[in-house]
Amino acid sequence: MTVKTMETQQVVELLEKVAGLNQTGGNDRVKTIIHRLMHDIFQIVEDLDVTPEEFWSAVYYINDLGKNGEAALLAPGLGMDHYLDIRMDAADEQAGLAGGTPRTIEGPLYVAGAPLSEGFARMDDGTQDGETMIIIGQVTDQHGQPVADAIVDIWHADLKGAYSYFDPSQSEYNLRRRIKTDAEGRYAAQSIIPSGYGCPPEGSTQALLNLLGRHGNRPAHIHYFVSKAGYKHLTTQINLAGDEYTYDDFAFATREELVVDAVRVEDAAAAEQYGLNKPFTQVEFNIQLVSTDKADLQSRHERQRALES
Ligand code: BEZ
Ligand code: FE
Repeated sequence: MTVKTMETQQVVELLEKVAGLNQTGGNDRVKTIIHRLMHDIFQIVEDLDVTPEEFWSAVYYINDLGKNGEAALLAPGLGMDHYLDIRMDAADEQAGLAGGTPRTIEGPLYVAGAPLSEGFARMDDGTQDGETMIIIGQVTDQHGQPVADAIVDIWHADLKGAYSYFDPSQSEYNLRRRIKTDAEGRYAAQSIIPSGYGCPPEGSTQALLNLLGRHGNRPAHIHYFVSKAGYKHLTTQINLAGDEYTYDDFAFATREELVVDAVRVEDAAAAEQYGLNKPFTQVEFNIQLVSTDKADLQSRHERQRALES
């Protein structure tokens, strides 16, 4: 079918009314975005000759997506979170604020208010018999000077690839901690090596990924928020090297600088240093922050987050 209606007065007027452009009330920014959004959807229907059957299956797909609470899971799967990162990187470049440890996506599984400790934290509750992981690192500024009293907020999945709070079988704040760096900018944590994440196999996100011939897996990874007044807030994650999905993350979060080796340590004296009596795996992640006096860049951007007031 080669029916073309987008340029007709009828459709132009319809879009204006849809977006409330002929009304005085409402919010101008929302009107502008909805006008453009609906225009582009109409245009897709016209250009790709979308059938009523295809259209209604998309509408009911969105219904299911909402019922399953998966909109914030589909977004990274469709590259949207990574695209926002690309834009923020470009904005930093333009503002002369590039550099430091690269950012990457937050994902939908953060929970605010994890226990805060000084210098070191034990993150796991001891109920899962995973490989012990020791994470160490130093936070410095762009000149290599230590940043003391930075808050390093770390969260990661368990052996099933599941996150506490969203997985009610785990204890409160399991595998989630905030650690304040010491006078030398150092932080350390004891935890267990996480497994990678997989989208719910029967969920809406996986259903669409199947139609795209894509998987819904992420490599084993560890999330970070790092913040201190006077520095650009950093949202990032590290991916453990050697995972099947390290360079094939369905959420597009992998960056070369953020792939970190997990090193097995067999030395008993090194284990004893952390009060351990068996070999462990060490992960080192040093973080460089970039200073800024712009207050809006010093904290994480607003979005809906679990337990955030
Ligand atoms: C995660 O952090 O595990 C995650 C990120 C994006 C989508 C799904 C999960
Ligand atoms: Fe994650």
